[in-house]
Amino acid sequence: MQIKSIQPVYFSPTHTSAKIVTTIAEGMNIIVNKEIDLTYPSTNQKTLPSDTLAIIGVPTYAGRVAPTALERLQKIKGDNTPAIIVVLYGNRDYEDALLELRNTAKQLGFVPIAGGAFIGEHSYSTEEFPTAAGRPDVSDIQIAAEFGKNIIKQLYQYTDIKKLPVLDVKGNFPYKENKPRTPATPITIDELCTQCQYCIEICPVETIELKEEIVSDPEVCIKCCACVKECPNGARVFNTPFSEFLFKNFHDRKEPELFDLTR
Ligand SMILES: Cc1cc2nc3c(=O)[nH]c(=O)nc-3n(C[C@H](O)[C@H](O)[C@H](O)COP(=O)(O)O)c2cc1C
Repeated sequence: MQIKSIQPVYFSPTHTSAKIVTTIAEGMNIIVNKEIDLTYPSTNQKTLPSDTLAIIGVPTYAGRVAPTALERLQKIKGDNTPAIIVVLYGNRDYEDALLELRNTAKQLGFVPIAGGAFIGEHSYSTEEFPTAAGRPDVSDIQIAAEFGKNIIKQLYQYTDIKKLPVLDVKGNFPYKENKPRTPATPITIDELCTQCQYCIEICPVETIELKEEIVSDPEVCIKCCACVKECPNGARVFNTPFSEFLFKNFHDRKEPELFDLTR
């Protein structure tokens, strides 16, 4: 198959999914289109042609594809368009997220030809309780770049995309049940906050506002922790018992898992 360009597509509040998708794309030596960043609500509908290779990356939330990512992916369609699907997870487990992403991609008109589960710093990682801090790291990046190179070689050998077998990935169907959401949101430490409003700019669900102080609505917040990780003054904090729980229970390093049509 001839591929004219690579199309990165991601939802990535804390940039780890974006980093892996971009790295896979850059390893391929083919023109890389401007990324479709679904992290913010403004993306237009788009159908990607079959001579484009899509690389779709999303975070795992509670063992599934992050719900906001799933919702926003509906704007991007394929037309028998080959796709590499990638989930990031915070060193606990990705459970059914990659399978759910594969099935979603198929429904949207893509043909998943390879997939990967990579590890990203956990959204709830803190200095006191680090979980997968700094990941993806140099080793993860090397694996991602190598993966991209291998998959593009494989893709050149396929003649008819419609005749490819279904990509097998880890995961169960029916998927892990979504638990009812527990409303919560990061808080602002007023003494550190300069009200620069950068958090308002970058919140993926636009739920942060400046009243007397910076506040966010726990009913709308998706707890992605973009505001926590990006506040230049460390003024946003998410106090959750999960930080310590993850640190204590998911300390052992996990490695990326890769899937393609040859295995
Ligand atoms: C609400 C929520 C739920 C999460 N659930 C999981 C999970 O089930 N397993 C896991 O290992 N990491 C989980 N994480 C961590 C993220 O998957 C991880 O930090 C990922 O790298 C974030 O991707 P991003 O940087 O592209 O936003 C969760 C994070 C959030 C905010």
